[in-house]
Amino acid sequence: MSEADAQAVYDCLKGAMYENYNKGSKGWIPSEFVKDYRDWKLANTAPAAPGFHGERYLMTWVNPTGYDAYSEFRDEDVKIPVGTIIVKESFDVAEDGTAKAGPLFIMQKVEKDRSVETIDWFYMMVSPAGAPVAVDVISACSDCHKDNFGHQGGLGYPVPDVRVGN
Ligand code: HEC
Repeated sequence: MSEADAQAVYDCLKGAMYENYNKGSKGWIPSEFVKDYRDWKLANTAPAAPGFHGERYLMTWVNPTGYDAYSEFRDEDVKIPVGTIIVKESFDVAEDGTAKAGPLFIMQKVEKDRSVETIDWFYMMVSPAGAPVAVDVISACSDCHKDNFGHQGGLGYPVPDVRVGN
């Protein structure tokens, strides 16, 4: 699928996605992360399809605290301010062209040494229907981020073609 096609699919889904992510209680996940992210800036220029996160297309939103640092996409010396929140929407498109929303993935940068095992990131996930999803964030999230992107502070970044500024 071309970038323009992927963008068109997103444009068609995005209203309902946001509404559904915000349905019901978010449990332990700060509900303002889910409420506010559409007021932040996107770090990608079109839906990214990197093949991780279950072959999904991804839209990466970053709050004002972390946007400038994140969107440098540094591969070393990464310094992300405490309080940075990154919210990633996902959707997939089946062979027959049917599109559907996937989970909302969230990372929050916390104080140094608060969570050494995850490079001081808190990981959270919200289902497409708005429910907080309980996962073992070490094995389900952090291990992959650490093993693959530990050298860049645990950040995977959108694929280069769709990074802002490229
Ligand atoms: C199999 C590896 C893998 C697993 C498991 C994984 N991720 Fe990721 N994640 C990636 C890759 C690769 C990227 C960058 C791709 C992109 O965003 O286009 C990424 C990007 C992200 C981003 C955007 C910030 C960044 O790193 O640039 C968030 C937020 C995120 N993941 C959250 C999660 C959460 C929450 C979980 C667990 C529920 C999770 N991830 C599990 C590989 C993984």
